[in-house]
Amino acid sequence: MAFLSDTLARVKPSPTIAVTNKARELKAAGRDVIGLGAGEPDFDTPQNIKDAGARAIVEGKTKYTAVDGIPELKEAICRKFKRDNGLDYRPAQVTVSGGGKQVLYNALVATLNPGDEVIIPAPYWVSYPDMVLLAGGEPVTVAAGIETNFKITAEALEAAITPKTKWLIFNSPSNPTGAAYSADELKALTDVLLRHPQVWILTDDMYEHLVFDNFVFATPAQVEPALYGRTLTMNGVSKAYSMTGWRIGYAAGPEELIAAMRKVQSQSTSNPCSISQYAAVEALDGTQEFIRPNQALFKGRRDLVVGGLNACPGITCPKPEGAFYVYPSIAGCIGKTSSGGVEITDDETFATALLEEEGVAVVFGAAFGLSPHFRVSYATSEEALTEACTRIKRFCEGLV
Ligand SMILES: Cc1ncc(COP(=O)(O)O)c(C=O)c1O
Repeated sequence: MAFLSDTLARVKPSPTIAVTNKARELKAAGRDVIGLGAGEPDFDTPQNIKDAGARAIVEGKTKYTAVDGIPELKEAICRKFKRDNGLDYRPAQVTVSGGGKQVLYNALVATLNPGDEVIIPAPYWVSYPDMVLLAGGEPVTVAAGIETNFKITAEALEAAITPKTKWLIFNSPSNPTGAAYSADELKALTDVLLRHPQVWILTDDMYEHLVFDNFVFATPAQVEPALYGRTLTMNGVSKAYSMTGWRIGYAAGPEELIAAMRKVQSQSTSNPCSISQYAAVEALDGTQEFIRPNQALFKGRRDLVVGGLNACPGITCPKPEGAFYVYPSIAGCIGKTSSGGVEITDDETFATALLEEEGVAVVFGAAFGLSPHFRVSYATSEEALTEACTRIKRFCEGLV
């Protein structure tokens, strides 16, 4: 349509939404569908946080707030960064937005000029490349495949950097693979960045609290303090506190960048929801007691799914350190034909046939920039996961 912008034409519609829609259609038609596509925890927001939100309503904290966050929340965020990450930030270095997504978008809109490059390790969270495109920049994807446990190597990072590189978007633990970088692995990357002062780091730490087996989470500004002045450390309450619908994300970084991001937000959405901000203060300052039991719960599910998928002929599933996703390879299924007569030419045909023939909804790897894989979200009951693995195994055993 000629009326629409050239920028929009560069952006793809979300493939994850297409999968969700297809699963919904089948469910509406009465089919028994197990959804392994959702990117959110399956437990409720903790009661103390809900109470804080309810209190904010009763107390009339229902008006416009400062554009990028109430002082109480900015202070709570500073305390969080100090407590969890050993990072010192002042409230003026903190921004709060309507979800981690808006933080990223503000940062990219505030900094990118046409031709500026943004390095994105692949597989990546679906929104990164399209956000870069919407902001007028050029996404540069760098493969981080199964052979390196989905982690980008120092050599690959070095090779991708050009004089036009403005940002590296870094995400650990990762959506879609669950891979998380240890402090040593991260140091190898920050050493590369030290040699390239034009490159800033946008680190997406959304899954910080979802790590297993005593894995110790690390973030770039903590691992390499010399990069503090060019790092935007992003995080949020969506995943750790099961607050996806409240829409609160935040970041801390150099004051000038934070001011530029505030300018973008002031002319687009203004402040994030006042009620959600008060609830987020309680999330960050209140009890953190449920984090450990949740880690144990998700670890159990991860082990169940990794075991179940590795028992399927043609599938190889690495065991990731965190998040609530696994990203198995289906290299051994390509070129075969399903019992329903579908030739598996790529991960999209695999996911479509799996949904139609066995009623299991997963997201195909091409959506995340690395094939042939699919993503499983295991943020669902053990019962559903066990049944899903049984069905996926039957599907794979039926391939000839
Ligand atoms: C890696 C990653 N970053 C950011 C987000 C966005 O989080 P929010 O819901 O707070 O916007 C998500 C949500 O799926 C995610 O997986």
